Amino acid sequence: MTAKRFKNPRAEHNYQGRPCSIVGVGSYVPDRVLTNADLEKMVETSDDWITSRTGIKERRVAAENEFTSDMAAAAARRAIASAGIKAEEIDLIIVATITPDMMFPSTACLVQHKIGAVRAAAFDIEAACSGFIYALEIGQQFIMSRSCNTVLVIGAEKLSTIVDWKDRNTCVLFGDGAGAAILQNRPDSHGLLTACMGADGGKSELLYMPGGGSMCPASGQSVAAGLHFLRMDGKETFKNAVTAMQTAAREALRRCELDITQIKCVIPHQANRRIIEAVGERLGVRQDQVFVNLDKYGNTSAASVAIAFDEAVRTGVIQRGDLVLMVVFGAGLTWAAAVIEW
Ligand code: UT7
Repeated sequence: MTAKRFKNPRAEHNYQGRPCSIVGVGSYVPDRVLTNADLEKMVETSDDWITSRTGIKERRVAAENEFTSDMAAAAARRAIASAGIKAEEIDLIIVATITPDMMFPSTACLVQHKIGAVRAAAFDIEAACSGFIYALEIGQQFIMSRSCNTVLVIGAEKLSTIVDWKDRNTCVLFGDGAGAAILQNRPDSHGLLTACMGADGGKSELLYMPGGGSMCPASGQSVAAGLHFLRMDGKETFKNAVTAMQTAAREALRRCELDITQIKCVIPHQANRRIIEAVGERLGVRQDQVFVNLDKYGNTSAASVAIAFDEAVRTGVIQRGDLVLMVVFGAGLTWAAAVIEW
């Protein structure tokens, strides 16, 4: 008899949900590379400061006529190809983003049209940098409850449009891109074994964009006051990220009765190398267990772990059957950790 590798929390309480596999992944980043040297010409900063404080060396910036939905659709097409399915098979599209093409309709609807997913329902969710795990969990619930057979989940951002390129505190941190996953009912894995999600709206002003919503609609004054740029209290966000990420990760492992050593690959939100190291240290993660690509892309918010997941699969870091711990943190505040059987 083979030894039990993990506990499946979904199997508790006689819950009869169908198993859900992640059957394909894909990602897309724009061609234009903005290096730290480029930023040195734009604001008072240095490659040395950015590298030592964040680990970021370069990031991607989408073209003016390339929108969040275009990057999302490009990542989706790659995920569809990797899953070996047709767009017409997709029942539901969920896009996690804080930079939708417009206030409405949803970016998911625009993606539905662009990829020809003619049968799919579509909606966006907003959980900032935590959005991809939130969306994966929502998508998985639709499969497990038999409402859908095939779900496309996307994390996509064009953060370059909400970054104040004159503010060195924030403009060096972010980048554009998209990552996608296809979920289906297949018996070969359990997809998300668990997802621990949390939020604290009491700390919403640590990371936010005040303008453009019902509280402060766009006006000449709001634009002049720079209210349509993101604002962040970096130090407080950093501290909250380390605490929330390690707590959520511990809880996800506990629910699956897993020890960190059983995890093949940890995919953390790619915001800051020092956050990743601090969380890893507290969890007892070996360096070779952690997947890091923020040096190439910076912080792409909802796209961050989606792009990293795809890269880890494509480069063979994650093989079928491996256990992955994904852990994220972002505005809201929001956070989440998921144990995934790939
Ligand atoms: O995705 C959601 C989650 N986001 C995060 O988790 C981000 C969390 N925060 C962070 O990653 C870090 O707090 C930052 C990278 C944003 C900042 O690092 P820090 O070590 O907390 O630096 P700081 O904000 O305390 O700034 C230290 C100094 C300041 O100068 P003074 O006041 O000490 O003279 C800043 O003005 O560094 C200065 N500084 C810069 N210097 C050169 C801030 N940004 C820059 C810059 N280049 N780009």
